Amino acid sequence: ASLDLQAVHDEMVAVAYDAGRMILAANPADLDTGTKLNSVDIVTEADRAVEKMVSTRLSTSFPSVSFMGEETYQPGMRLGPEPTFVVDPIDGTTNFVHGFPNACVSLGLAVGRAPAVGVIYNPWQDVLFTAIKGKGAHMTRIKGSAPRKLPLAKSPRPLHGLGTCLMAVEWGSGRDGPNFELKTDVFRKLAASRETGGSMVHSLRSLGSAALNMAAVAAGQMDAYWEGGCWAWDVCAGWCLLEEAGGIMVSGNPGDWHPELESRVYLAVRGAPEGQRELVEEFWGVVGD
Ligand code: IPD
Repeated sequence: ASLDLQAVHDEMVAVAYDAGRMILAANPADLDTGTKLNSVDIVTEADRAVEKMVSTRLSTSFPSVSFMGEETYQPGMRLGPEPTFVVDPIDGTTNFVHGFPNACVSLGLAVGRAPAVGVIYNPWQDVLFTAIKGKGAHMTRIKGSAPRKLPLAKSPRPLHGLGTCLMAVEWGSGRDGPNFELKTDVFRKLAASRETGGSMVHSLRSLGSAALNMAAVAAGQMDAYWEGGCWAWDVCAGWCLLEEAGGIMVSGNPGDWHPELESRVYLAVRGAPEGQRELVEEFWGVVGD
């Protein structure tokens, strides 16, 4: 029987709220000493505990769906075509550890290696982003009076080139090698004046969470997001939101975004009636292919 995406979405939302409560109650000082890339690739006990809760709940409700999570990922695991939950229990762990109130639980479902459901919940701001393939994307603000669920517009103000963009970029945890050189080069070219060969974007932002950057682009709060070195769990949920809001993701190894690819470079551009493709071309023209 085919998977009922609405039922999966509803369970993912319930799990995301519970994950949010766990994150707010957790002690970010409880660092986990597991093996990670380097000293800035931080993992806490909360990351592992939240992933355990999420995987147990989702696997119990949907036993036929595979699971890939940031904290249980092992080299060699590949995202296959079968329905798979792709989960980052705390996206924005560095913010969480420093008490900077911006991180989220990012729950994606991929089917045929394409994002099919995305649920992103930021428990500090009490904002929920959701999308189901073919059914649109929504943002629900829970804090305050009655919760307000708003569709993410497919046609926000048109894009007028990179020079008018508010753009998200991230350092990530790779701090040496060719990927680090690429990042510093792209950031410089985006920020630099036109006279010095740059595109002089309005400004650059780093929310500290790939999923929240993508949600902001999907919601039209930012115009684009570029990062070199994202993982499948960083982008799955946000990618669904982005597409359902009329945005596009370019590069990112479309259809083959398994975690071990060398080139995990992503450019997300928001939905806009005009200027979307031109913006992508201008971006590659400025930063080089
Ligand atoms: C990281 C964050 C960060 C981004 C990295 C991600 P984590 O995820 O989203 O903003 O730059 O590429 O890996 O480690 O906080 O789950």
